[in-house]
Amino acid sequence: MKTFYIETFGCQMNAHDSEKVIGTLVSEGYSQVAEPEQADLILYNTCSIRDKAEQKVFHRLQQFKKGHGKGKVFGVLGCVAQQEGERIFERAPHVSLVAGSASYAKLPQMLVQLESGDRRVTGLSLDTEEAFDTPFTRRDNPHRAYITIIEGCDKSCAYCVVPFTRGPERSRTSASVLKEARELASMGYTEIQLLGQNVNSYRDPSPAAWDFARLLRAVGEVDGIRRVRFTTSHPRDFVKDIVDAIEENPVLCNHVHLPVQSGSTEVLRRMQRLYTRDDYLRRIAWMKAARRDISITTDIIVGFPGETEADFEQTLSLLDEVQYDSLFSFKYSRRPNTPALTLDDQIPEDEKSRRLTFLQEHQRAIQIRRNSGLVGTFDQAFVEGYNQATGQWIGRTTQNRTLNFIHPLQAGPKDGETLIGKYCNVRITRAGPNSLAGEAVDCV
Ligand code: 5AD
Ligand code: SF4
Repeated sequence: MKTFYIETFGCQMNAHDSEKVIGTLVSEGYSQVAEPEQADLILYNTCSIRDKAEQKVFHRLQQFKKGHGKGKVFGVLGCVAQQEGERIFERAPHVSLVAGSASYAKLPQMLVQLESGDRRVTGLSLDTEEAFDTPFTRRDNPHRAYITIIEGCDKSCAYCVVPFTRGPERSRTSASVLKEARELASMGYTEIQLLGQNVNSYRDPSPAAWDFARLLRAVGEVDGIRRVRFTTSHPRDFVKDIVDAIEENPVLCNHVHLPVQSGSTEVLRRMQRLYTRDDYLRRIAWMKAARRDISITTDIIVGFPGETEADFEQTLSLLDEVQYDSLFSFKYSRRPNTPALTLDDQIPEDEKSRRLTFLQEHQRAIQIRRNSGLVGTFDQAFVEGYNQATGQWIGRTTQNRTLNFIHPLQAGPKDGETLIGKYCNVRITRAGPNSLAGEAVDCV
């Protein structure tokens, strides 16, 4: 039996790609092992969004240099593979397979080539449609499933490698998305997460020509599906109809991740984000006016070239104005090929760090305040796990908050009985900046 080990870095798109790769390899007779030492084939599915993510991969590859990688085949998949291509063979000569996400359907062929003696094999073309319909996806979680609806990105944000690593936008037909959603429902999945670099620019390539809101509504109608999420949204393509869809159907989770990147219109212009602070705030206003309480989260980059102290303060004031429930924040990192690479006025590293820490503390106070307001209320948690150390079940609310809780009758998984995969109504008793805690009332 041939064995493989795979480690995944980066975003949910990558996590889902790995599920497809695993499914493909298993159907080819490979079996997955938990430790690289036990594997014949070692795969890293990589991320290149920031320099740190990229360095991690080369670090991993170095660990095998000193002997114990003998006889093994090493493959680099994903965004670093697409970005660096054959240069990876120079930096890590023991690697023999380099393949970007659009080539995964060809993995079996590539592995045959390696077995038949080829020293090095690459799959770096971006012009294939095959990436989607891998028939053998091996999903990690038995209750919540990802579905890719659109690949690639046609925007050209000045800092971003994604258009280079994942290529131009390709949407999948609505019929194929719905077929997969129905299949998942019949297999017992209750939560679906629609994935794409920019789901809002989804456009059904079949004559139906559905837009994203239409697709979202239809997935929300699939029998057996209790929660639908989607990520990521681009503010420029985020239309009011999406908010209307969420208002109309409680199956569509009342959470929108809408990356803003900066609160300064001037910085947004230099980032080539295609919207102003006011445009963005108009979209926020649609959500705040909705009948359902829509939770809003975002991504922020600090220290983009030329970001002044006043620009940074604009970002802080945006956080106050929007009142995000959570955010991911990053120091700007220069990436190969991107338009911002050559911009003057790079911000020193220690200044970027200072802004990042300041921003995170500012947001932390907002989250403590917002979460504290929820103590005493009830919410429904979809149970994802159990924490042995704290004796709490780990759940997630429709607003995507982590809600850890105890259950009066079920102190933990026992005799095959578990709450994982169930939906529990929970009374919230405590709040921290990043999670809530409570006691279950009932579960279904
Ligand atoms: N430097 C720092 N952060 C980045 N992101 C994307 N590219 C960069 C970069 N070059 C962040 C953005 C994006 C998130 C996925 O990663 O905030 O929304
Ligand atoms: Fe990283 Fe972007 Fe690639 Fe996801 S698409 S793995 S975030 S570089």
